[in-house]
Amino acid sequence: MELQITATSPEHPASLLDLPWNIPLEEWPDEHLVSLPRGISRHVVRFVRAGGEVVAVKEVGEWAAVREYGLLRDLDRLAIPAVDALAVVTGRTGEGGQSLEPVLVTRHLVGSLPYRSMFETTMRPSTIKRLLDALAVLLVRLHLAGFAWGDCSLSNTLFRRDAGAYAAYLVDAETGQIQPRLTTGQREYDVEVARVNIAGELMDLEAGGSLHPSVDPVLFGQAIAERYAELWHELTRQSVYPTAKRHYIDRRVRRLNDLGFDVAEMQIERSPDGDTVTFVPKVVDAGHHQRQLLRLTGLDAEENQARSLLNDLETWMATQDDYAPGDPLGARPEVLAHRWVRDVFRPAVRAVPLELRGATDTAQLYYELLEHRWLLSERAGRDVGLDATVEDYTRTVPAGRPHG
Ligand SMILES: Nc1ncnc2c1ncn2[C@@H]1O[C@H](COP(=O)(O)OP(=O)(O)OP(=O)(O)O)[C@@H](O)[C@H]1O
Ligand SMILES: [Mg+2]
Repeated sequence: MELQITATSPEHPASLLDLPWNIPLEEWPDEHLVSLPRGISRHVVRFVRAGGEVVAVKEVGEWAAVREYGLLRDLDRLAIPAVDALAVVTGRTGEGGQSLEPVLVTRHLVGSLPYRSMFETTMRPSTIKRLLDALAVLLVRLHLAGFAWGDCSLSNTLFRRDAGAYAAYLVDAETGQIQPRLTTGQREYDVEVARVNIAGELMDLEAGGSLHPSVDPVLFGQAIAERYAELWHELTRQSVYPTAKRHYIDRRVRRLNDLGFDVAEMQIERSPDGDTVTFVPKVVDAGHHQRQLLRLTGLDAEENQARSLLNDLETWMATQDDYAPGDPLGARPEVLAHRWVRDVFRPAVRAVPLELRGATDTAQLYYELLEHRWLLSERAGRDVGLDATVEDYTRTVPAGRPHG
């Protein structure tokens, strides 16, 4: 059989070809290996230098390697945090002519730690909580994308520090399955597996003396199920708001942002009597709003400004008579977006006198107006509208703003 490398990028086969595929992974010479912390696993896994980067090589059956490779590629497309699959190597033959197991090659996730290394110094209970929070967020994101993990555990996850929190990445997709939509039963099964696995993994740490004495493994396993349920509910519940209470929508979007989720798309529907909206938030990748705003309006803004402007644009769109998403007779989103720029965005920005604007760009200015509207509306207990906001803003805000 001939050595075959199936890879995502043409650069990889070249750097991978130099590796000693005719030797079992367990026996690879030190010159190829990189010593980095690694979690426990059934298969042989090694970190290896290939070209300019470090990769993880896992020896596994051909069927499993190809399958996991495909799933990791899918997760990448769905913008789920997971290790990057680089290649599958098959047709390996040993020096004595015997056939060797295929491998899956993934990119080493820089800055990541398996949980066992994180627990080497006893972790405070509050830090463990943050770790579990990150894992719950990952599981919710996977489920929203239609991925049933099948084996959610601490050892199948890698953690990276993310400002004061942690970000969790999926490392082992072998047992996973992707569908357009998961059933409640599938999600509950995954959460149950996570609960049992985590309790067991914490018990192991406890037996090895590396768990803080106040941490009860069973209760902490339970915590993942609770956190998951909370997040899932906050993300997927449909809510109905009277039009005059538009700032309730803002409030919910902000709560989701605080939980680490962005709201990509609101499915706002006008009820027959025209006074309620419902919306369902989705999860998105970084930079999504910036690209979306640019595509729809031509406005080039920072991510946080773009998120805020898009929320406003979409809420406004739903109030338009020809707004009918999915209906070929309705106005295209680009058309509505241009109307919004012309009738809402520009007039509001122009209503703020030039000398008060200073060097602030228009996206930032409009963003500040939206923030101001939020404050006024929260105070008033109702949506005060954009005109009143501009008027109040012009009177009260820019004076104290640093120009430049
Ligand atoms: N791309 C990567 N970056 C960093 N670490 C990795 C990477 N791939 C694998 N690892 C490390 O190797 C360990 C084992 O990998 P993996 O879970 O895929 O093996 P496995 O044998 O399939 O595990 P299991 O026993 O759960 O079936 C992981 O826990 C992780 O610590
Ligand atoms: Mg594993």
